[in-house]
Amino acid sequence: MHPTNTSKSYELTQAGDRYFDGLVDKFSRSLYQAPRGELRLAMLDYLLPQMLHLTGQPVLDVGGGLGQLSAWFAERGHSVTMAEPSEDMLAHARAWHTERSAAGAWPPEQLRYLAAPLQSLLQHAPGPWPLITCHAVLEWLGEPARAVQTLASLLAPGGQLSLMVFNRDALRFSNVIKGNLQKALSDQLEGKGKRQRLTPISPVTHDEMCQWGAANGLTMKDVAGIRIFQDYLRHPPAQENEQATLLALEKQYCRQDPHWRLGRYLLYTFTKPEADV
Ligand SMILES: C[S@@+](CC[C@H](N)C(=O)[O-])C[C@H]1O[C@@H](n2cnc3c(N)ncnc32)[C@H](O)[C@@H]1O
Repeated sequence: MHPTNTSKSYELTQAGDRYFDGLVDKFSRSLYQAPRGELRLAMLDYLLPQMLHLTGQPVLDVGGGLGQLSAWFAERGHSVTMAEPSEDMLAHARAWHTERSAAGAWPPEQLRYLAAPLQSLLQHAPGPWPLITCHAVLEWLGEPARAVQTLASLLAPGGQLSLMVFNRDALRFSNVIKGNLQKALSDQLEGKGKRQRLTPISPVTHDEMCQWGAANGLTMKDVAGIRIFQDYLRHPPAQENEQATLLALEKQYCRQDPHWRLGRYLLYTFTKPEADV
């Protein structure tokens, strides 16, 4: 269950995945302690109840990272199994969850942890699950298409999959805006997963999501863009009221064509058809 590092400077597993060992501080600083992390969580808070049919069903959170999404569901009464192969990330999530739970946010038995990668879940948590979440994980895998196949197999008939992926088209656009014209022209956008870099190794396109969903018998029910404007601003909001206005804008256009298509992340709800009777 441990990552097999091929060398110190190229820290991918044998499957070509980037576990986030050694990245806790960087990830937490550059995302969740920054306005973009705040916006991401605010948008999920806004969108998940619209895009999912939530009935308190059990949730499998795949690649749960620092545990924010697992906490979101636990607070709403779901029992959550959080799977995460990075022991660093899992340890931080657990410690934070323990504090929240001790403060009365949810009973401790509501959260369960698996130190395991997605690829092992058919063995370790076969379910089948009525609700699976897998947010910002596919883009860190060597074979994201195979991961969709695994997620589809873990879903119960009638089950829902909330999938969020890093959008390759938005990565191109933001590179152009930043002046990385040659990089954009050669379309060499992916990161290499080296050292502490947080450019995803397998950014995903909407076309790929359509294909991978259909290839695995899943129905795409809904899609939205997360951070459709924020990363393109010349002048990031300096004051709280500007940040609030930006959030209002993101909410207003996150599901409207063409804006959702350039969201930094694309958020999908897929469902698995009910079994034939
Ligand atoms: C960008 S973080 C996202 C964390 C969390 N889902 C969120 O939205 O904040 C990507 C996570 O995927 C995990 N990961 C990498 N390879 C994985 C694999 N094969 N199976 C499951 N998770 C994996 C990393 O360790 C990391 O915690």
